[in-house]
Amino acid sequence: MQSAWKTRILPALLVILAGTLSASAQATAYTDQPPLLLGAAWYPEQWPESQWEPDLELMEAAHIHLVRIGEFAWSTMEPEEGQYKFDWLERAIALAAKHHICVVLGTPTAAPPAWLTTKYPETLRVDQNGRRDEHGNRQQFSFANPKYRQLAHDIAEQMATRFGHNPDVVGWQLDNEYAADSFDPDAKGQFHAWLAKKYGTVDNLNQRWATAYWSQTYNDFNQIPVRSSNENPALLLDWRRFVSDTWTSYSENQISAIRPHADKRQFITTNTMGWFDNFDEYKLHTVLDIAAWDDYIPVDHYDADANGAVHDLTRGYKQKNFWVMETEPAFVNWRKTNTPLEKGQVRDMAWQAIGHGSDAVEYWQWRAAPNGQEEYHGVLAGIDGKPVPVYDEVKQVGAEFEKAGAALAGTSPQSSVAIIQSYDSRWAIDFQRHSAAFDPVEELIAFYRPLRDQTQAVDVISPDAPLDQYKLVVAPALNVLPQNLANHLLAYVRQGGHLVLGPRSGMKDEYNALNPQRQPGPLADALGANISQFYALDADVPIGGDAGSGTATIWAETVNPSSPETKTLLRYGASNGWLDGQPAAVSRSVGKGSITYVGAWVDPALLAKLTTSFVQQAGVQPILSGVPEGVEVCQRSNGEKSVLILINHTTMEQHVALPASMINLIGESSSRIDSVDLPKYGVAVLEK
Ligand code: GLA
Ligand code: GLA
Repeated sequence: MQSAWKTRILPALLVILAGTLSASAQATAYTDQPPLLLGAAWYPEQWPESQWEPDLELMEAAHIHLVRIGEFAWSTMEPEEGQYKFDWLERAIALAAKHHICVVLGTPTAAPPAWLTTKYPETLRVDQNGRRDEHGNRQQFSFANPKYRQLAHDIAEQMATRFGHNPDVVGWQLDNEYAADSFDPDAKGQFHAWLAKKYGTVDNLNQRWATAYWSQTYNDFNQIPVRSSNENPALLLDWRRFVSDTWTSYSENQISAIRPHADKRQFITTNTMGWFDNFDEYKLHTVLDIAAWDDYIPVDHYDADANGAVHDLTRGYKQKNFWVMETEPAFVNWRKTNTPLEKGQVRDMAWQAIGHGSDAVEYWQWRAAPNGQEEYHGVLAGIDGKPVPVYDEVKQVGAEFEKAGAALAGTSPQSSVAIIQSYDSRWAIDFQRHSAAFDPVEELIAFYRPLRDQTQAVDVISPDAPLDQYKLVVAPALNVLPQNLANHLLAYVRQGGHLVLGPRSGMKDEYNALNPQRQPGPLADALGANISQFYALDADVPIGGDAGSGTATIWAETVNPSSPETKTLLRYGASNGWLDGQPAAVSRSVGKGSITYVGAWVDPALLAKLTTSFVQQAGVQPILSGVPEGVEVCQRSNGEKSVLILINHTTMEQHVALPASMINLIGESSSRIDSVDLPKYGVAVLEK
């Protein structure tokens, strides 16, 4: 018996255990497909069927194993109300499968057909000024309108009934890039009902919102204005929470149509937009199976750190691997000047996505559409169906995904450092910036850059995420800090965690009202200090301490220590008089850990010195030390294996010494190496 246990049962159990581990790391599971999927957005409805096969052949030749289809095809799927036409879609899916390409089906609700909006004009969205959208373009629907939801439910259910058991459909994308609020009568009524449910009585709301201010006192919930700007900050914060709940129920409506008809293996997601913050992605993702985002470079040049931060943000929605549902084949059409990525950077970006925990990279779009608003957008195939120059680079990525996929299957990034990203706080700051340059995302990224550089692994998490796995937690501008969140953070600190709060932290409570203790509100006692005053800056202010010296810019708070145990880390130099000689950053040991408060936006070099000391104090080691600047180190692992991904984001060749002899899974040779030379934008995927 004992030997059977050892020879058969134990190994079998280990295999099962490994299977569960990998399943939780991997974003999703799909049979007969490589673990890393290269894909493209394909619009068969825009082409005669005779064009499909040549397109799919060209995709297959580029190692594309995934297409997303359908997300704008409502008028083709349901040309008239209740007349569903899915045969074409079924043929498209079957033909893709013939070329070893699996499918994510998009529900088409981001683009309602003309018959719908003509017959049911109440489904059109209304902007804050009361103007109703007309039919045209896309996203012209109201997310709150019951009729629209019913029609969306119907089309989603029809699709699921037809394709929910189709073996080649691996998952569903709901709608496309949820974005705009609506201020139509349904949305307004629902907001009032939402407030009534939250506050119980209007008196309670009046008290929490302090509505005696400007005679805002309400006698009835229905009197409350519905706005997303120029209003009481409590109202604005609740509006954003209502919008978050409404997009969540918008999703649930479609999920309830799909799930009963779909195999469990088919995941349901939607494509998100990075830092876009009209609603709370953590809330939305409670009802989605995996996270996915559309990775477009919003500025003229690819900023690898900033882009990596968004991958980490997206991974944090479900705290597991995610997908890049769309990315640019070198350029987009919606920036001021749509400069391309440089040759080599498309591949660099694809591997960065994988390095940060994506299991799929999908290009938007496969082929230039014959007409339409996006004729100038980057593609992989031109209008003639022939490859454009970037096709070869994407093909190389596809070949590499196939080579390295098995090693990366079931692995994900692991980190002992987290940055807290709070929608409440971002909203609260953005409603009342006080200093126009204080962009909370920029401030988060300012902390992210040195932390990523120094540790090579950072999680970006929601304020209420479990913290046990982290040695260091940084909350860059945790403006909204209610008591329950303070309790959560304090419990972490007492057990040995190191918490760093950035400027503007702890000013507000759950209702966007001022915390009575001043900043950092319910953490002031533990810190042994509060903020005596905040100041907006339009010039640099000298600042320094043991960690080094530099400048404060944009924002400066004077810290008022109240405990002898509270150590001053930074002080301001002479400037406007108010700041001169005052403490700017303090720290205190609390329980087995510590709380640090940094009250100024400090320059990058000084911030890097500060984060170095935080990282050291927390005992966090980098994955690989001595790596040249501009070479990104990513590691994906699970209990059994570990893969290193090195990306040279610079235009110079870079030499990296490896921690052990390794094999470059995508290199020209399969011999073991102790170091690697990465050319301009070069990538190595290394396994021991
Ligand atoms: C004006 C208004 C006040 C107040 C101040 C703020 O003077 O009359 O109610 O809003 O501006 O500067
Ligand atoms: C978004 C949309 C796509 C397409 C691309 C173009 O990501 O989801 O439909 O318009 O932008 O960059």
